[in-house]
Amino acid sequence: MNLLELRNVEAGYGEFRVLHNVSITVRKGEIVALVGPNGAGKTTTLRTIMGMTTLYSGDVIYNGKSIRNLPTHKRVELGLTMVPEGRKLFNTLTVYENLIAGAITKRAREKLEDSLEFVFTLFPRLKERKYQLAGTLSGGESQMLAIARALMSRPEVLLLDEPSLGLAPKIVLMIFDVIKKLRDEGGVTILLVEQHVKNSLEIADRGYVMELGRIVIEGDAKKILADERLKKAYLII
Ligand SMILES: Nc1ncnc2c1ncn2[C@@H]1O[C@H](COP(=O)(O)OP(=O)(O)OP(=O)(O)O)[C@@H](O)[C@H]1O
Ligand SMILES: [Mg+2]
Repeated sequence: MNLLELRNVEAGYGEFRVLHNVSITVRKGEIVALVGPNGAGKTTTLRTIMGMTTLYSGDVIYNGKSIRNLPTHKRVELGLTMVPEGRKLFNTLTVYENLIAGAITKRAREKLEDSLEFVFTLFPRLKERKYQLAGTLSGGESQMLAIARALMSRPEVLLLDEPSLGLAPKIVLMIFDVIKKLRDEGGVTILLVEQHVKNSLEIADRGYVMELGRIVIEGDAKKILADERLKKAYLII
């Protein structure tokens, strides 16, 4: 079943069109990787799903219904959550306070204790640092907190924008492990934007390659990994 679908989407910012005829489907329980060079439109795709761009034509469909006219907060209430690039934590609040701030919907507040236990099991490091100020966390810990905070809203679909950006190789692997665990044990469906093309296609079920605002390759993640065009373009990596 398609949980989330972009159908022939043309979107951008004001007069500036970025996405051209983009169609992407995400089925329940999948990790779908969206990769491509800088400026291709990956972040714009995620922001379009959240309702943070101008959608000129096409549609965004979630659970069988068009959400194109819903404001961002309604989309969060329905179960879509995005972890933006660059983490954007509340630096002067503690780890714990950041997590509480993530439980913004009524549905999430009702499950607060459960969610805290879930994210602390997933990231024991955050439990140890519960009362530390977010601004003093290491890069890896900040990314863990950004993902954990998003999970506090109890998303059905998590949109991750370059979660491994700027992290040391060991931490990158740990983040990929967590993403896999979220699908396999947490029942979370994931749309993953990444620069680490190989790592993300290795954990993904399906993938899309975007260039200049268009989808140029799509399909089974393993098949894309073996695609000669991609190997050439990214000298795989
Ligand atoms: N708020 C904005 N207003 C106008 N143009 C924007 C805005 N944000 C992004 N763009 C433009 O849209 C295009 C696609 O940007 P986008 O951030 O979606 O790319 P990306 O694939 O995420 O790139 P990266 O890998 O560098 O993060 C770029 O040309 C960028 O300059
Ligand atoms: Mg981006």
